[in-house]
Amino acid sequence: MTSTDYRSQSLAPRTDTDAWWRDAVIYQIYPRSFADANGDGIGDIQGIRGHVDYLAALGIDAVWLSPFYPSPQVDAGYDVSDYFDLALEYGSLEDLDALIADLHEAGIRVIIDLVPNHSSDQHEWFRSALAAGPGSPERDRYIFRHSDDGAPNNWGSLFGGSAWQPVEPLTGRSRDRGWYYLHLFAAEQPDFNWSNEDVHEHFRTFLRFWVERGIDGFRVDVAHGLVKAEGLPDDDLGPDRWNVVAAEDEDAAAAREKLPDVGPAFNQPGVHDIYREWRSVLNEVGPDILMVAEAWVPTEADAALYVRADEMSQAFNFPFLTAGWDAAELRRVIDVSLAEYGAVGAPATWVLSNHDVVRHASRLAYPADLDTNPGIGPNDPQPDAELGLARARAATLFMLGLPGSAYLYQGEELGLPEHTTMEDEARQDPLWERTNHLVPGRDGCRVPLPWTRDGVSYGYNTTGCTWLPQPEGWGDYSPEAQEGLEDSTLALYRRAIALRRERRLGRGAVEWRASEPGVLFLRNGVTGVVLNTTEHPVTIEDTGRPLIISWHSADRGGVDATETVVLPPNGACWLDLPQGGPDGGDPC
Ligand code: NOJ
Repeated sequence: MTSTDYRSQSLAPRTDTDAWWRDAVIYQIYPRSFADANGDGIGDIQGIRGHVDYLAALGIDAVWLSPFYPSPQVDAGYDVSDYFDLALEYGSLEDLDALIADLHEAGIRVIIDLVPNHSSDQHEWFRSALAAGPGSPERDRYIFRHSDDGAPNNWGSLFGGSAWQPVEPLTGRSRDRGWYYLHLFAAEQPDFNWSNEDVHEHFRTFLRFWVERGIDGFRVDVAHGLVKAEGLPDDDLGPDRWNVVAAEDEDAAAAREKLPDVGPAFNQPGVHDIYREWRSVLNEVGPDILMVAEAWVPTEADAALYVRADEMSQAFNFPFLTAGWDAAELRRVIDVSLAEYGAVGAPATWVLSNHDVVRHASRLAYPADLDTNPGIGPNDPQPDAELGLARARAATLFMLGLPGSAYLYQGEELGLPEHTTMEDEARQDPLWERTNHLVPGRDGCRVPLPWTRDGVSYGYNTTGCTWLPQPEGWGDYSPEAQEGLEDSTLALYRRAIALRRERRLGRGAVEWRASEPGVLFLRNGVTGVVLNTTEHPVTIEDTGRPLIISWHSADRGGVDATETVVLPPNGACWLDLPQGGPDGGDPC
């Protein structure tokens, strides 16, 4: 069955039309880098507890906590060795209970990461699988295959190199000769076999366990990867994915088109049965539990399949994130997203940054067609910080004016740029080693946050020890440095989130208004949302009062006038549109 056939299956009526997550602003906390209360250089739960007031003042509806489970940390916690506990370095289950209580008390819901595609190789199941030997029930929980002729197929790991690890060198047993296991990511992250009932039972138990602990939702890692095509056929890309990305010839450009996660390892129709199973578990344990899919699938239509009524609630909108500073592409993504998600009764979501991509305050300084992911190193062209920040502020303001739900990544509210000059020795992302230093990886967006203007580690902890180095001048971005400044990025985020709630923009709809090329102008209820991606100022007349602007008020242009706004290049604003006609008049 193709995915399109699958889509045409009957849709159950939605029962979640008033759910809290439909217009939520959800803030991603990367616990390792948020705040470190015990000074060991690694952020922790108590560190987060120390900043609940800050989160409340930001006005967000929920936080999403990236993995905090016990883990050897080969992939920053996305290699889970125990799904029912916390890593010691982050704290205890009791600490987490206290954090959940604090956040709930502050009116903030809690979403956690669910990592179902793979475990750590240190998970007790995988250790017993290696010990048990070929053909055992223990090995059936993962994807072991035999081949006398090298790796069982040509799949490459997303982190570089083959996706197959030979078993014999690990066990030293001759009976394992010719046996391999599959790992779509690092070798220390063996893929689960989702045809195995133990795996299903494990994750049903996981969902119940965490909902009983007070969790309000789950972000599902690699949601499109759990089921692989029958027979594990070769794919079109082979194991050289990162050489393809790095190469500059025409063939490479064509091959790059295949890079979204397509092919037999991804987006198989069978994944949807798993989410139906999970939805029915969640329906039993609590109302409106959010499930959001991390699925890097090729189109918005593919992503919408994950949010049919009996599956997940939301899917990350990665086409919006990758649209870059390109008004036409942004408009296309918005239209298609609203149509595709709308067709299945789900809200669209919007996102510009997360822990896997170059922070948008740096990424948007590059041309839209230049792929900066994953990572920028000291030898790459460096971003123009001022341009990047201006665009980032504008892009965020524009995003927060859209209907649906928006995801923010810790530190973007401070305007944090990517750390693009990190020394190679400091890098921790497995991508760096597994690609033989071809790609810098994702460490540059994971740097510990600055909380104070000065001091060792800028208030992240009191010891100055940090798991990744912070760049110089990091404290200038801190909340302490921005507090009380009307023009700060932090003030912009706070005000935009508050206004968005007040004007119910998340529950609104998009009506496009006429605008010149490079400018996007939409009406969302009685609010106008305008973005200028051009390099020249744009005048908008007869629009009503400007509500909020993305640029610094020292360069306000005509913003003080009540009926005319001059948007500077790389600027965005919201307008209080007259109630009049449906279109409010043509501004241009
Ligand atoms: C997606 C996560 O966001 C990323 O950080 C991780 O490396 C992979 N999935 C593997 O779990």
